[in-house]
Amino acid sequence: MAATKSVLVLPLATLAALVLLAAAASSFPTAESQTSFSTKLPTKTLMKREKLTHLHFYWTNVRIGPNATALIVAPILSNATFYGTVALNDDALTLGPDPDSSAPAGNARGIYHFPSDTTNFVYEMMYSFAFTYGDYNGSSLSLLGSVRPTSGTASEVSIAGGTGVFRFARGYAVVNPFLVDLPRSLVVNEIDVYVSHY
Ligand SMILES: *[C@@H]1O[C@H](CO)[C@@H](O)[C@H](O)[C@H]1NC(C)=O
Ligand SMILES: *[C@@H]1O[C@H](CO)[C@@H](O)[C@H](O)[C@H]1NC(C)=O
Ligand SMILES: *[C@@H]1O[C@H](CO)[C@@H](O)[C@H](O)[C@H]1NC(C)=O
Repeated sequence: MAATKSVLVLPLATLAALVLLAAAASSFPTAESQTSFSTKLPTKTLMKREKLTHLHFYWTNVRIGPNATALIVAPILSNATFYGTVALNDDALTLGPDPDSSAPAGNARGIYHFPSDTTNFVYEMMYSFAFTYGDYNGSSLSLLGSVRPTSGTASEVSIAGGTGVFRFARGYAVVNPFLVDLPRSLVVNEIDVYVSHY
């Protein structure tokens, strides 16, 4: 008796589950219904035309010494690769390559660390570039990625977002070590940003 009851109950439960699943599937918005929904959004008032902007400037980091812009908060574990180094930074951005005399372009605040003690000599940057010049005054971009610090090797990092005129920003930046002044412990990087925004 008990056996026949459970045999009867199980298929019923399965059937009920299938009916529920089918109902859930039919009420879930399909690709088609989503498309027709989005065309009803007031797109003209929300979105301006997307544009691509190219920015060119220089970023100076002073590792140590009286004018250091880096505060090294974790020590170097390998002198060959700087492995282990973690630095907090408040660096200068300038329009020209001379950090002493070029017009200021903004501040670059963020963290970098040297992640590898093997053959891949890079540092990872997590930075916010805040601009103070021209139409970009008060706007910022977030830059993330791996940079090879060796001069003559350009690296590409991602634009992870932006504020101000760079809202909805996406794109990439090419970081090119331009000058390494060892006595001053100073590194100047040339930056080309290609950013899409509204
Ligand atoms: C790195 O070099 C400095 C100066 O030569 C030395 O004092 C330090 O012990 C070295 N560090 C390591 C981790 O080898
Ligand atoms: C940038 O904006 C700030 C705040 O509005 C203003 O004080 C400053 O003079 C501006 N800088 C430039 C270079 O226009
Ligand atoms: C630090 O900056 C001052 C003022 O810009 C400069 O005169 C001095 O030479 C710099 N010192 C070093 C070690 O770079």
